[in-house]
Amino acid sequence: MKAMRITAAGDPSVLQLQDIPQPKPGPGEVLIRVGASGVNFADIYMRKGAVPVPLPFTPGIEGSGTVEAVGDGVSDVKPGDRVAYAGRGLGSYAEYDVMKAAQLAPLPKEVSFEDGAAVILQGMTAHYLLHEFYRVQRGSTVLVHAAAGGMGLLLVHWLKHLGAVAIGTVSTEEKARIAREAGADHVIVYTKQDFAEEAKKFTGGKGVDYVIDGVGKTTFTKNLDALRHRGWATVFGMASGPAEPLAPNSLMTKSITISGGALFNYVVTRDELLARARDVFTGLREGWLKLRIDRAFPLEQAAEAHRLLESRQTTGKLILKTGV
Ligand SMILES: NC(=O)c1ccc[n+]([C@@H]2O[C@H](COP(=O)([O-])OP(=O)(O)OC[C@H]3O[C@@H](n4cnc5c(N)ncnc54)[C@H](OP(=O)(O)O)[C@@H]3O)[C@@H](O)[C@H]2O)c1
Repeated sequence: MKAMRITAAGDPSVLQLQDIPQPKPGPGEVLIRVGASGVNFADIYMRKGAVPVPLPFTPGIEGSGTVEAVGDGVSDVKPGDRVAYAGRGLGSYAEYDVMKAAQLAPLPKEVSFEDGAAVILQGMTAHYLLHEFYRVQRGSTVLVHAAAGGMGLLLVHWLKHLGAVAIGTVSTEEKARIAREAGADHVIVYTKQDFAEEAKKFTGGKGVDYVIDGVGKTTFTKNLDALRHRGWATVFGMASGPAEPLAPNSLMTKSITISGGALFNYVVTRDELLARARDVFTGLREGWLKLRIDRAFPLEQAAEAHRLLESRQTTGKLILKTGV
């Protein structure tokens, strides 16, 4: 089968299309004919070596497709089932992928493979970010960094569904337009404006209840200024690099809570995974959760997809069309 392989950490050119043997599902595992694969910043961290992965490897932590074969002991999925998966295991940048059966969510028949691969990881991430830390309620004020990105747009949609006030940061006026169109109540162009000062203006000088930060280095320290007393910030990514170190005692003055999030810790049990996936697909079906696929690349152009995501020029999600 064809797979994108990484044999050494580095720039996007290390992504090379190779012919490798089709994997076989072991006990409790499933062979999936991949329909589409989601491109994520985590793939870039792994490609660069910022998140170490044993070499060589096939990247890709998100995909959708059809069950081709099942290993011993698998009873809850069967060949022909449509599935989506995310957050655990590597290998979706390929024509076939093997996953543990317990890590698969059913892909509703009305959701295409492209949409399934575009939403499963980021949708379930938005789910835990909005339900496991600061409890977002009607009227909560929430600052979302990179609000026109893949995660950012889903978070804005979900915040509006929950009745919260969504305040987004973006780097350009065009991204500001896209974030507003998605429903953001206020948008701050953080490359020109001081986002903490602006966030305070939008909250009557108090500061926001919650900051959701996947940007990291260029934003995290200033989040503390943007928060109200007893506010909460979650860091869940590092698109600009790792956040600067922080002295724990600096949190005392405003009694701030900080948390870190990674999806794989929030889809640990089968019930948890299915519940989050179900809510994501319900959001799509009911129309309050909307997908914006910026571009779909053929598998062999995965390096191009990485370049584009890193270039900061995308709005919404990138996917690879892996279908065989
Ligand atoms: N922990 C988890 O469970 C989890 C799961 C999914 C995603 N994530 C994280 O969520 C974040 C967003 O992921 P995504 O795939 O949706 O990406 P994305 O938001 O579509 O793209 C990243 C955005 O970050 C902003 N950014 C700021 N500084 C940047 C820089 N130096 N280089 C590149 N981008 C920069 C850009 O928006 P502006 O131009 O508007 O600044 C850019 O468009 C990533 O940090 C990712 O790792 C975490």
